[in-house]
Parts: sequence; structure tokens; C-alpha cells
Amino acid sequence: MTRRRAFRFGFYGPALAAILLLVVQGGALSFQGSSPLPAAPGPYPDRIILTWSADPSTTMSVTWRTDTTVSEAFAEIAEADDGPDFGKKARRVQATTERYETNTGPAHSHSVTFTGLRPGGIYLYRVGAGKHWSEWNQFRTAGRPGEPLTFLYLGDVQSEIYSLWSRVIRRAFAAAPDARFIVYAGDLINNNDRDEQWGEFHAGAGFIHRMLPVLAAPGNHEYSLSDRRISVNWRPQFTFPMNGPTGLEETCYYLDIQDVRLVVLNSVVHRSEQAGWLEKVLSGSSHRWKIAVFHHPIYSSARGRDNKELRELWQPLFDKYGVDLVLQGHDHTYARTGPRRFDGPARDGGGTVYVNSVSGAKMYALDPHDVFERVAEDTQLFQVIRIEGDRLSFEAHTATGTLYDAFQLRKRADGKNEFRSLAPASAPRRRKAA
Ligand SMILES: [Fe+2]
Repeated sequence: MTRRRAFRFGFYGPALAAILLLVVQGGALSFQGSSPLPAAPGPYPDRIILTWSADPSTTMSVTWRTDTTVSEAFAEIAEADDGPDFGKKARRVQATTERYETNTGPAHSHSVTFTGLRPGGIYLYRVGAGKHWSEWNQFRTAGRPGEPLTFLYLGDVQSEIYSLWSRVIRRAFAAAPDARFIVYAGDLINNNDRDEQWGEFHAGAGFIHRMLPVLAAPGNHEYSLSDRRISVNWRPQFTFPMNGPTGLEETCYYLDIQDVRLVVLNSVVHRSEQAGWLEKVLSGSSHRWKIAVFHHPIYSSARGRDNKELRELWQPLFDKYGVDLVLQGHDHTYARTGPRRFDGPARDGGGTVYVNSVSGAKMYALDPHDVFERVAEDTQLFQVIRIEGDRLSFEAHTATGTLYDAFQLRKRADGKNEFRSLAPASAPRRRKAA
């Protein structure tokens, strides 16, 4: 065995070294600072990302980037077919193009919202202009109310994104290939305006964001806190609903996805102003399931943190309007409560389950206080949420795909939930043995 291995290295070693040298000299890889990827745009579409900005069952939005030589760009869409000729029936839509400036230079952002799609339909699309086109990517619209729905939820991405986060989103996609969308609870990058970190976010997810629409709440790291300004990348690169409060466009919004009213809140700025809007959005919903997503948690799970103001502002509304589940980030630990209300555990059915999670590499020390039923430290995770009729199933998996936590909510006839923990019996993961 040893001789054979030595022979192989002797044969391939110099060739590999030469290839590596060429690649590095050619600039395809440039290991500068913490971002290993070239950030500058070119004429080919990159950072292609699906989002929803309108009805998820009949529309899909796509946003991409080029250099500023591309001032007119297009998206094409066709019903999917098993043969390769579907492109002949494609329709072409001109993109809205806007210029934005980043630390790596100017770029053009292009976006299109496809409309008039079929609920649960499978489509192929590509984006580009002239001779520069993306591959054809396949997606599926959301279905109709009453049909099953699966989606992914991930906590903070933030650090060493390309190097250490990629595996988590890829494992998530492999674990739930039937997922219809991904929701991120903020802090997708570390420094709001560092374009190369956004490049890592797009590259880390690779083709996944081209197939599954992304929804995201902003975190504190998306903001410049000195002037309360969101990243220059946020609005050009995402096409989110514009139905939030004035001044919080595309950072606070809601979407109705089958049986779910999904409310994305901005926990970074103008928190009190969102309470009135939130009340209107929740009181106007007759959806079976109500889910809220935002960054700063109602119950903190990292040592020395607490968001009392948020708890007092928003939690009474979650109680009043029966929000089933709240998905959060920020504390770089995993922590999940049982059903709770502002004044304590909900023992009569009902109440809201609160989850904090983390998908990236940055880890904090846990503060496992008694509101939490399942916690983890030093663990990268992704979550799969499945809704089928009156049942919501939640699973948290570690980066390697091991089931770490699970619970089920069953909606009773009176609209309240029966909660059942399905957490495995394994000991909570800690950095050191407690
Ligand atoms: Fe944060």
C-alpha cells in the first residue's frame, strides 16, 4: 500500500503543483484576508438568487449581478419539460436594472418578477444578455392551501462563510430536497458593506439559491449602527415584498405561503414602530399557521444578553394573535423553548415556541436558563419545518445531518396547539463537559 501511494504521489504531485500554481497566478483563487473569492463582477450573471416579492404560488423573483457594461438584461422562463427543447417556448422579460456602489467597485443589479405562474408548477429560467447567459435553473412555485409545505430555517451565517458555512446549507438542501424555500434569521455576513463577504454568501450556497427562493430578516451585522443604514448590498441583491412599514421596505414584510402567514420583522431598527404594523398583519390573518422570523431573540440563550424591550413590544402580540412559532438568531447557540406566553409557560395548549439557532462558525457560550427545553453550544445546525394540514413538524439537524431536536404542533379544533417534544435523548452538546 505504501509503495503504491508513494508511486501515485510521485506521478501526480508535480502535475498538481503546476495546476495549483497556474490557478493562483491566474487569479482564479486569491487568498487575501478572510474572503477567498474574487468579488468583482463581470459580464456574466453571478450572485443569482431567487426570492419572493408577491404571491408565492403564482410568482417568483430573481435577482442577479453583472458589471456596469450590462445595462439591459433579461430573464427567460419556460414550463419545465423532461426534454431539452423547453427553451423554444420560453418567454422573455426585461429586467429592472440599478447601479450600486460597493467597496469592490460599482455593479449592476438586475431583477425580474415572473408572474402568472401555476401553483406548484415546475419552471426553468435563465438570466443574462447578449452572449452571457446563466444556466437554466429549475424551481417550483408554492402550492395551494391544504397542500404539504416544507421549508428550511437557518440562523446566523456571518463568519468564515465560504470556508465553514457552505457545508451546512448544502447538507440542509440534501436533507430536504422537497423544501420550497429557505428563511434566514439575519446576520448573513459580518460587515454590512463588505461586498466580498456577500460574495461568500452567494458562493457558499452555490446553485441552491438559484433553485429555492430565499427570504431573510436583517441582523445587526447587516447594519451600520452609527447611521442606522442597511448594507448597500441588501436592497440591490434581494427582491422582497414591499408591504412593510414605510422606511423598512424589504427588511420588514409578510408573505402568505399556502397555510402560513410568514412575518419577517426587522429587530435592528424602528422596533416600536413595527408593533402597530405587526398587529394589523396578525389580526388580518385567518391562516392556520402564523410564523414570525427576526434576528434578536425574545429569550436570549447566550451569556450576558437580554432583549427585554423586544419581549415587551412584540411578545404580547404573538400571544394575542396565536403566533405558533418564532424563528430567531443572534445568540450563536441553539435553544428551543416549550410553548410560552409573556407571563410564562402556556399550559392550556396554545402559546408560542421560540427557537434560536446558528448555522455559521461563530460560537458563543450558552446561557441555558430554564425557559429552554433543548440547547446546544459549539454546534452548527439547520432546521427543516414541515406543515401538513393540522400538523407542524420541526427538526433541527447538526451540520453532519444528525437529528438534534424535534417537536410537533397539532392544531386543535379550538385553534390552540398540542405540543409534543420529540427531542432525542442524547446529552446537550457543550463546548466542554458541563
Ligand atoms: Fe447578531
